[in-house]
Amino acid sequence: MAGEGLDAALVTARARYPQAAQVVEDLAPTLLRGQLERLLATRGEDFWAEAERLVGYAQSLGGTPADSLLEYTVAYLKEQVRFVATGEYSNSDFETARAQVYDNADVMERFYLEGLLLTHAFWPIHFDIHRFFIEEFVSRVGDLGQGVEVGFGHGLYLLDVLSQRSRTQARGYDISNFSLDYAGRLLRHAGIGEERFQLGLTDVREGVPGEDACYDWAIFAEILEHIPDPQAALHELHRVLKPGCPLFATTVMNSNALDHLYLYREVGEVVAQLEEAGFEVVAQRLLRVADYGLDSRDPSEDVALVCIHRGAAGSQVAPAGDSGD
Ligand SMILES: C[S@@+](CC[C@H](N)C(=O)[O-])C[C@H]1O[C@@H](n2cnc3c(N)ncnc32)[C@H](O)[C@@H]1O
Repeated sequence: MAGEGLDAALVTARARYPQAAQVVEDLAPTLLRGQLERLLATRGEDFWAEAERLVGYAQSLGGTPADSLLEYTVAYLKEQVRFVATGEYSNSDFETARAQVYDNADVMERFYLEGLLLTHAFWPIHFDIHRFFIEEFVSRVGDLGQGVEVGFGHGLYLLDVLSQRSRTQARGYDISNFSLDYAGRLLRHAGIGEERFQLGLTDVREGVPGEDACYDWAIFAEILEHIPDPQAALHELHRVLKPGCPLFATTVMNSNALDHLYLYREVGEVVAQLEEAGFEVVAQRLLRVADYGLDSRDPSEDVALVCIHRGAAGSQVAPAGDSGD
């Protein structure tokens, strides 16, 4: 189906991917049309399969996928237009973001969690980040032990690591009761046994729950830019992760949202913070809006990284067999 026009692709897709096809049809007259055409042209069946899966989750959880995705996209674009004009993020105060977003049912329940979930199929950059997550991170997660995700939001990353590693267990922490509710429902709906995950409320500014070196993997996706002191959170993740174990992290540069506080201007700043906290970056993907043919004037970039805990923060672990003499 790659290469067909949108209307022709819809005719073929309706039989195999009925829920995704309905959302594509609903969104076709909107500002998302160009993006959908590019997804169909470049991702074809992979797009349809992932869109059907995520739209299916959204609908089973009682959502309205086309509406939430459109509203999430428009909310992002409004803030990004402001950023392009001012060079600054709209918000610099965590408690404001908390009141306006994380504690606000009209945002979290109505469109934020579901819209963000769906971007992992319908936004080409998030689609690619999710592929990178499966290929570069889940492949490094062992099938036993316990991991942690902080700021899990909708819960898709937890779901996919728990589905693909059928004996590992997970703790998930988020500041929002709405995330707790949504992710819990998603995991249960997708058939993940209750004994395999525990979700709880935490403010990562106060630390990550867990003893030193107690987790076998960790995920910190799209939250570094949401907190005033990302470096402190990375130190906490380093503290709770076992040496040699993987961390998946994503963040954005020059990309505004109501709840973005920490402005990274270059990817080197992110890598420097990770290294200072004691991680070694072993895989990295930089995704520039301008490279996706979306808008060449938009300076927004995403980065996805897989890092390995390399022992003490800010130092290299001596390789096995090296006595240090
Ligand atoms: C942009 S969403 C990311 C969701 C998901 N990880 C993803 O990548 O799509 C950010 C999430 O971080 C949570 N969050 C924001 N500040 C937090 C804090 N201080 N402590 C814990 N969670 C926080 C929000 O409630 C929200 O669920």
